[in-house]
Amino acid sequence: MPHIVFDKYKKELVTPSKFNNISFDFVAKSYNFTQKKRNPEYKIAVTNNNKEFFLTLKSKDESLLLKADKVTRVTPVQIVKDAINSYAETVEANVVFSNTQNFNQKVKPDQENLKDIDFFVNDFQTDKEIQIEIGFGSGRHLLHQAKENPDIQFIGLEIHTPSIEQLLKQLTIQKIENVLVVNYDARLFMEFINSNKVGRIFVHFPVPWDKKPHRRIYSNAFINEALRVLKIGGTLELRTDSRKYFDYCTELLTNLPKGKIEIDINKDLKVSSKYEDRWKKQGKHIYDVTLYCDNLDEDISLEYDFSFNKEIEFSKIIKNICTKAIVEEDYFIHIEDIFIIEDKRDSGLIQVTYGSFDRPLNKYILIDEKKAKYFQDTPLPTSANIKAHNKLKEILQDD
Ligand SMILES: C[S@@+](CC[C@H](N)C(=O)[O-])C[C@H]1O[C@@H](n2cnc3c(N)ncnc32)[C@H](O)[C@@H]1O
Repeated sequence: MPHIVFDKYKKELVTPSKFNNISFDFVAKSYNFTQKKRNPEYKIAVTNNNKEFFLTLKSKDESLLLKADKVTRVTPVQIVKDAINSYAETVEANVVFSNTQNFNQKVKPDQENLKDIDFFVNDFQTDKEIQIEIGFGSGRHLLHQAKENPDIQFIGLEIHTPSIEQLLKQLTIQKIENVLVVNYDARLFMEFINSNKVGRIFVHFPVPWDKKPHRRIYSNAFINEALRVLKIGGTLELRTDSRKYFDYCTELLTNLPKGKIEIDINKDLKVSSKYEDRWKKQGKHIYDVTLYCDNLDEDISLEYDFSFNKEIEFSKIIKNICTKAIVEEDYFIHIEDIFIIEDKRDSGLIQVTYGSFDRPLNKYILIDEKKAKYFQDTPLPTSANIKAHNKLKEILQDD
C-alpha cells in the first residue's frame, strides 16, 4: 500500500486546489472517531488522471501517515503515488518514510483475457454460445475445452489468484483467444449473464465445505440462476469425488418442480484434472450429476438507477444514524463511519458496507450541500445491492 510518514509540515492543504495537475477537491474529517476522542482520520478527495479517489491521513505515534484509501482504490497505483507525493510537496512535509518514489516501475502488461466484473455488467456481448467453468483450478479442463471448441466463448471463474495467473500464462503460451477469466465468486456471477445464453456450466470438484455448507457453490438460488442463464438443452454439470456433496446436490436437484437429471459413476472424460488423478489413485468413486435445462426464461435488466432522489440533511443524519448493522435474510447494511466536510454546510461522507454476505460492497456516499451520490461510481446492480440501496435510501431520506 503506497504511503508516506511525515513528522512536520509547513502549510495547511487548501481545497479545492490544483498542484502538478492533481486536484485536491475537499477534506472530510471522521466524526465517530472524534466522538470517541480518538485521533481523527481525514479523507482527502483527489482527482488525478480523471480518476477520483481518497487519501487517508491520520496520526501514527508522533507522526502523520498519509496512505491510499482501501475502498476507493484506483489503478495504476502510480496515480495514487503521484497524489501522495504532490500532497507532501504542497504542504512542505518533512517526510521520514516513503514507498512512493519507486521510479522506472515496470507496469504489468494488460491481460486481454482477464476481465473485471464491470466488464460483464457494461460491455460483455457475444453472438457465440457461452460455456462457463466454475473454480477451474489448474485450468486443465478449461484449456482442453477451449482448444476443442474454438467457436464457443468460455468464461472461467476462480477466486484463487495463483490459479488465475497460471491459466492466463497458458492462454498466452497456447494462443487461446476464446476464454475470458474473472476473479469473482461464482455464486454471485450468474446475475450478470443474460438469460438463455449458456450451453454448459462445469462445476468440477468443487470444495465440498462439509463443515461450512453455506459456502458451497450449489444452493437453490445458484441452481435457479444456472437454469435461467442456460439455453434449452443446456447443462449444469457437477463432477465430484465427495459422496456427501453428491447426495446434497442430488437432493437439491430432485426437489426442483420439474426437470431432468442424469447420474454417472466413474465416467471417463477426455481430460482429467489434477484432483481427479489424485482421487482415482486413492480408488475413490467419481460422480457426475448433469442437470438439463428445458425452459426459456425472461431477460434480465442490468440497468438500475442508484440515485438518491430527495435532499438529505447531513446534520440530521450524524445525530440520528444507527451504526448497528441491519441484517435481513439476503442482504445487510452497516454504516462504518461518517466524515464531515468542515468547509461546506451540511456536507460529508457516509462510509457504508452493504449487499450480500458473501461479497459485501464498500462504498462512500458523498452528501454535498444536501445532494447525495455514490463517490466514484454506482454499485453493481446485484439483487442484494439493489435491496440494500433501497433500504439505505429509506433511512437517509427519511422516507
Ligand atoms: C478443489 S478445486 C478444483 C479445481 C478444478 N476444477 C479441478 O478439477 O482440478 C476447487 C476450486 O474452486 C475454486 N473456488 C472455490 N469457491 C469458489 C467460488 N465461490 N467461486 C469461484 N471459484 C471457487 C477454488 O479456488 C479452487 O480452485
